[in-house]
Amino acid sequence: MAFSKRCILRKPCKTADTDRCNSLCPHYIAIHGYNGDGGRVEAANIPKDYRLLTLATSPACAEQATAYETIDRYAATFARQFEADGGRIKSLYLYSVEPGTGKTTTACALINEWIIVHYIGSIRRGLRPIDRPAYFLDVNAWQSDYNEFNRAKVPEYIAEPAAARYYNAQQAAMYAPFAVLDDVGVRECTEAFRADLHRIVNHRVTNGLPTVYTSNVPLAKLNEVFREPTPRLVDRMRDMCVTITFEGGSKRGMRGLTK
Ligand SMILES: Nc1ncnc2c1ncn2[C@@H]1O[C@H](COP(=O)(O)OP(=O)(O)O)[C@@H](O)[C@H]1O
Ligand SMILES: [Mg+2]
Repeated sequence: MAFSKRCILRKPCKTADTDRCNSLCPHYIAIHGYNGDGGRVEAANIPKDYRLLTLATSPACAEQATAYETIDRYAATFARQFEADGGRIKSLYLYSVEPGTGKTTTACALINEWIIVHYIGSIRRGLRPIDRPAYFLDVNAWQSDYNEFNRAKVPEYIAEPAAARYYNAQQAAMYAPFAVLDDVGVRECTEAFRADLHRIVNHRVTNGLPTVYTSNVPLAKLNEVFREPTPRLVDRMRDMCVTITFEGGSKRGMRGLTK
């Protein structure tokens, strides 16, 4: 396999597939770490299977062609992160009725696109790219961590690392310049967990931080998650959010059958 296939910078990179394209490339290391399991992609917490994904290589691209037209145009606005008056970068709400339509896949491709634009844009301007320009929060996994330290008689050696993971993830999801909140439509949860999720979204919305949400709950019904007497947070989310509906049924288990 050509080494460039292991690096999300392959398309814009001028040395891709030359003899300088190898695991010692400082840009490869900055993005993917020494063994492909570090760098900014690891710091972003992107699931392992999706670490090399870009919009162009996303398996959902062909099937969700209409959605991807909008998504490509959206990714083109990422350059605004360097422009003081470049206009706001909106948020996206990737919604489908059925699971398995490619929402998480697409959200991961978008995070990688953000990392690429941030990294190259910073270097071009003589700036140091920040260590965590983006963060992927798997809301279900985050809730599992919450449950792990909030049960009766949890031994300390289980509770403590779970709590550390949980609060670190919360901070990262609040402060990253770009974030994915994957599967934000949680149904069953405690009031305390609800409040913690609310805090992340509220902080991002208040500070105008672009966020990609994925969900099987329509945005208009998302207050069923936050349960505010008047749906203030969801109203404010809607102000700067474009909803993209993914059509069709589940493609789970199809990987490998396409490209
Ligand atoms: N259009 C598609 N063609 C082929 N595989 C797809 C397509 N959309 C999604 N997949 C694959 O199906 C699986 C589920 O996709 P995922 O992004 O997790 O869906 P969702 O987040 O909408 O539930 C993943 O392995 C993904 O790579
Ligand atoms: Mg998903």
